[in-house]
Amino acid sequence: MLVAREVEVRAGARLLLAPSSFQVSAGDKVGLVGRNGAGKTTLTKILAGEALPAAGQITRSGQIGYLPQDPRTGDLGTLAKDRILSARGLDSVLGRLGRYSMEMAAETGEAQDAAMRSYAQAEAELAAAGGYAAESEAARIAANLGLPDRVLGQPLRTLSGGQRRRVELARILFSGADNLLLDEPTNHLDADSIVWLRDYLKAYPGGVILISHDVGLLEAIVTKVFHLDANRAELDQYAMDWKRYLLQRETDEKRRKRERLNAERKAEQLLAQADKMRAKATKAVAAQNMAKRAQKLLASVEGERASDRVAKIRFPTPAPCGKVPLRGEELSKSYGSLEVFTDVNLAIDKGSRVVILGLNGAGKTTLLRILAGMEPSDTGEVQPGHGLRLGYYAQEHATLDVSRSVLENMMTAAPEDMTPTDARKILGSFLFTGDDVDKPARVLSGGEKTRLALAMLVVSAANVLLLDEPTNNLDPASRAEVLAAIHSFAGAIVLVTHDEGAVEALEPDRVVLLPDGEEDLWSPDYADLISLA
Ligand SMILES: Nc1ncnc2c1ncn2[C@@H]1O[C@H](COP(=O)(O)OP(=O)(O)OP(=O)(O)O)[C@@H](O)[C@H]1O
Ligand SMILES: [Mg+2]
Repeated sequence: MLVAREVEVRAGARLLLAPSSFQVSAGDKVGLVGRNGAGKTTLTKILAGEALPAAGQITRSGQIGYLPQDPRTGDLGTLAKDRILSARGLDSVLGRLGRYSMEMAAETGEAQDAAMRSYAQAEAELAAAGGYAAESEAARIAANLGLPDRVLGQPLRTLSGGQRRRVELARILFSGADNLLLDEPTNHLDADSIVWLRDYLKAYPGGVILISHDVGLLEAIVTKVFHLDANRAELDQYAMDWKRYLLQRETDEKRRKRERLNAERKAEQLLAQADKMRAKATKAVAAQNMAKRAQKLLASVEGERASDRVAKIRFPTPAPCGKVPLRGEELSKSYGSLEVFTDVNLAIDKGSRVVILGLNGAGKTTLLRILAGMEPSDTGEVQPGHGLRLGYYAQEHATLDVSRSVLENMMTAAPEDMTPTDARKILGSFLFTGDDVDKPARVLSGGEKTRLALAMLVVSAANVLLLDEPTNNLDPASRAEVLAAIHSFAGAIVLVTHDEGAVEALEPDRVVLLPDGEEDLWSPDYADLISLA
C-alpha cells in the first residue's frame, strides 16, 4: 500500500502538484494521466522513493517495483537473465550452484566435501526462493514480453534500448512487488505482449499505478483514475473505471467552466461597485477590500483559463534533391554470432513513403541507424544521392545532447544562417516558451523530448526523414499533430513504428520486410503486421 499525505511536487521553481493526499491499496489499478509535461513521471519517481517531495509524506508498505520512463544504465555487462533473476536474489544462488558443482567434480578429499556442503546450502537457499520453478517463471514472463532464451543469454550491452526496457519490466513483474509503478510500459512492446501484460496486470493482486497514453490498456485494467491537471496543478481522483471516468471528467469540466464564468461575472460586479464607492472618502477602505476580493476570485480561476495548448508541427518544404536521394546496397549486420539481417537493398526515391516491418529484434532500428550514418554496416554501403539532406529521429531520443539546453540542441540542428531568435520562434510553436528553452534537455519529460527532437527535424529542411517510433510518449493531442505533419510532408519518409495510426497517416507506397530485406509495394494486407512489429 502507498499513502501520500499532503504531498507537494515541484520541478525547479514550478509547481506541478499542490499539496494532495491519496492512497493506492492492494488490488487498486490506478491510471495516472495528464498531458505531456504535467508531472506524472516526477510524481511517480517520488512515490517510488527515488526523489523527495517538496513537502508532505509518503508511507510505503511492501516492496515497490518501479519501471522508469527512460531506460536505466546499470552494469551493462550483466546477462539479461541474471538481471531478471536478481529481483529475487536468484542470480547469485544459481551462480554459486554452478560453481560448487564444478568444484565437486574437480576436487577431491576435504575440498570436495567443502564444495558439497556449500552446494547443499545454496540449494536450500534456492528452494526458499521458489526453486527452479522460479527460474522457469522468470523465463516465462520474459518470453511473454518478447524476450526469447537467446536474448536472455546476452549481456545487456548488446541489447537494444527497447529490449533493455523489456528486461526491466520482466524483472519488476518477476519480483512479485506489492506495488507496481509503471511509467509507459507499452512503449516498446508488440501487440501480443501488450495483450499479455494487460491480462497480467488485471489479475495482479497488488496495487498498480500505470502511466500510459494507450487508451485500450487503460480501458481494460484501471479501476481508478488520477488525472494530474497541469493547469491547476491538482490531482483529480476518480474511483471508477476508464469509461465512467471520461464521462465524469467531461461533466466536471463543464461545471468548472460554469463556476469560472460565475466567478468572473461576480468579480466584475465587485469591481464596478468598488469604483463607485471609491469616490466617497468614508467608503475608501471598503472599496479597497471589495477590489481585493474581486482579485482573489479572478486569481482562483486564473489557471483554468490557460487552455491546453497543442504543438503546431509542420515539416517545412524539403530542400531540392535528385531522383534517388538515398540508397543502401547489400547491407548486412551481425552482433557477434547473431546475424541481424543480410543483403538488404533499398532505394529511397524522392518523396517516397516507406515503412519498415519486422518482428521484435529483426533489426529495424539498426537499419535506420545505418542509413543515418550513426553505425557502420558489416557489408555493403549507404550511398547518398544528389542533394541529400537527412533528418533522423531516434527512438530514445539518442540525437539529443542531454547536457545542453533546449535552445543549444536546436541551434546544432539549424542551418548556419539561423539566428537564436528564429530558433526560439520555431521552439515556441513546439510549446517551448520563455525559460523553457534554457532548460537542459536532461530534465525534459518524455513527451517534451519527443517534441524537441521533432523541432530539430523541422529546422533542418531535410528531404529524407528517418523516423523511429515518432509517436511514443506523446499525449493524444500532440500525437495527432505529429501524424498530420507526417501526412503532409512533401519529402521522403522511412518509418519504423508499431502505431497503426502512424502508418495510416504515412500512406506508404512501399514496405521493407526484415530480416530478409525484401521490398514490396504496400498493400493493406500488411497492416496486420504492424502491431506485430
Ligand atoms: N530539474 C528540473 N528543472 C526544471 N524543470 C524540470 C525539472 N525536472 C522536470 N522539469 C519539468 O517538469 C515538468 C514535468 O515533467 P514530467 O517528466 O514529470 O512530466 P510527465 O507528465 O511525465 O510528461 P510526459 O507525458 O511527457 O512523460 C516538465 O515540464 C519538465 O520539463
Ligand atoms: Mg513522463
